[in-house]
Amino acid sequence: MESYLFSGFLGFVMVNMLFASGRRLVPFSQYYKITWGKSHFTSLDGGTRVQLKLDNRSGSGFESKSHLLSGLFDMKVKIPENKSQGVVTTIYLISKEAHHDEIDFEFIGSNGPPFDLSTNVFTKGVGGREQKFRLWFDPSTDFHSYTILWNQYQVVFFVDDIPIRVFKNLGNKTSYPTQGMKVEATIWAAEEWAGKVNWSKGPFKAQYQGFDLDACIVSNVSNPRICNYTGGDAWARIQDLNAEQVAQYQIARRHYLHYDYCTDKTRYAQPPPECQVQIKI
Ligand SMILES: *[C@@H]1O[C@H](CO)[C@@H](O)[C@H](O)[C@H]1NC(C)=O
Ligand SMILES: *[C@@H]1O[C@H](CO)[C@@H](O)[C@H](O)[C@H]1NC(C)=O
Ligand SMILES: *[C@@H]1O[C@H](CO)[C@@H](O)[C@H](O)[C@H]1NC(C)=O
Ligand SMILES: *[C@@H]1O[C@H](CO)[C@@H](O)[C@H](O)[C@H]1NC(C)=O
Ligand SMILES: *[C@@H]1O[C@H](CO)[C@@H](O)[C@H](O)[C@H]1NC(C)=O
Repeated sequence: MESYLFSGFLGFVMVNMLFASGRRLVPFSQYYKITWGKSHFTSLDGGTRVQLKLDNRSGSGFESKSHLLSGLFDMKVKIPENKSQGVVTTIYLISKEAHHDEIDFEFIGSNGPPFDLSTNVFTKGVGGREQKFRLWFDPSTDFHSYTILWNQYQVVFFVDDIPIRVFKNLGNKTSYPTQGMKVEATIWAAEEWAGKVNWSKGPFKAQYQGFDLDACIVSNVSNPRICNYTGGDAWARIQDLNAEQVAQYQIARRHYLHYDYCTDKTRYAQPPPECQVQIKI
């Protein structure tokens, strides 16, 4: 694998103001709760790290207690060790409406590196916006950080603070995620599309860290359009990538993007409007 293309940027990334704040060590139970597979969930290090396990009986999942209307969602994840074909580990935002909004990171299990990270955006129940990246490191050996910035201007997906995907709010030229969403994380077997799981290689264990929530939280469910910031709101005003991030973004896409719905002629004869803007960055 080409793995060192980003090394020149690390010095900059360390001092990147956007990520310098937040990231307090808070216990899982402050903002999150287990949703399913309780017996396959383990809390570690006083609740600052959790493990989701998948075997042939169950997977497991958790979600944020509250709905959120925007935020800078940053989680450290270590996916199951090798031979995890068919196993999908996720961290995503999702609304509970019938025509839901969703912003996804999905790690596709594999019988060894390289590993694919799929991203997708749903608006009002419509998805089909996958972009898949072949990661430049092995996500099963160490924790790496996976971040979603979602504000009124843009959705940005970051891997280790490197922007890999931007989905702009184009007003009424296209649709944009605006519904209150929860953060969710799961491990499950996606054998229909990710391949057969070899259960004798299990159990498969994913770990998550970073349960601080830097977001605008809906605190009164009767007022789902009103939210309160849990911390600072600097991220809420970020409209564009800065120059260094644009350079990183271009490297990420040139070398590691290997499926893009925008260029999939079997899906769309004309690229959807959001693709035009993205290509210009
Ligand atoms: C993963 O693969 C590496 C290299 O093939 C091997 O050394 C390691 O033991 C494997 N880990 C597990 C948990 O099977
Ligand atoms: C499109 O957006 C503009 C500006 O926000 C607004 O004035 C206009 O009513 C919108 N048009 C439609 C069809 O929603
Ligand atoms: C599943 O894993 C077992 C144990 O490592 C191995 O012996 C077997 O060949 C694997 N099965 C398949 C279908 O790869
Ligand atoms: C689940 O896996 C275990 C251990 O590999 C095996 O003994 C058991 O028969 C499996 N159960 C089912 C329902 O496949
Ligand atoms: C929540 O919103 C409802 C509807 O506006 C209001 O009646 C109620 O007082 C609010 N509750 C709190 C705790 O603010």
